Amino acid sequence: MAQARAIEQLAGYGPVAEQAQRVAEQARRAGDIVRRFTAMTSDYPSERAPVALNDVLRDVVDLFDHALKRARINVVLELIPDLPTVMGDARRLHELAAHLIANALQAMRGRPAPRRLTLQTVAIPETSHVAFEVSDTGLGLSADARAHLFEPFYTTKSVGLGTGLGLFVCLEIAREHRGSLAHVERPGPGATFRVELPERGPDLG
Ligand SMILES: Nc1ncnc2c1ncn2[C@@H]1O[C@H](COP(=O)(O)OP(=O)(O)O)[C@@H](O)[C@H]1O
Ligand SMILES: [Mg+2]
Repeated sequence: MAQARAIEQLAGYGPVAEQAQRVAEQARRAGDIVRRFTAMTSDYPSERAPVALNDVLRDVVDLFDHALKRARINVVLELIPDLPTVMGDARRLHELAAHLIANALQAMRGRPAPRRLTLQTVAIPETSHVAFEVSDTGLGLSADARAHLFEPFYTTKSVGLGTGLGLFVCLEIAREHRGSLAHVERPGPGATFRVELPERGPDLG
């Protein structure tokens, strides 16, 4: 969309500008459709209640317990005690963590050992945020994947294995909570994704 807008401005007036305008308009419509689609797939309203992220992560790991064992993946939980709670929708945050863990699992399945999934929580008092990281020792990200990770329908997986909507939805959920989601560089093989969420402020009654 940004590229089409840039072409439109460069072209000024005339047929090229008009074509570029049409491209931008269609891109916007496609974005709307995807947004409506993903809103539809979450059939509950976004709640706002105090959420303990450590508990959410433990629950998700429980959910994946069988799949993780079958793929012979070691799970390391580094959850700091007394993590401040966040305000949000526990089910949506559960969904966010589940998508990241599903990706980690898929990246490690059938790969040589060590296969390790690490879940980490940390408090960032300076910015009143809490963060959690999901790290794997899987195949890692190609330059192409790095550039397109969060785009809807971007997938490197075969049909039936990937829709390319996972990280797009994850980003939506992080933003719903006024937080962020990013792929972060860490030494060693595999990939790490980091979610930062504002900690729950003082109750003002
Ligand atoms: N943990 C990971 N390790 C390696 N590649 C990843 C990881 N997570 C995401 N990716 C890459 O990002 C792409 C998009 O991820 P996602 O939006 O979840 O869609 P999908 O999993 O359906 O392909 C994946 O196809 C893969 O190429
Ligand atoms: Mg996925």
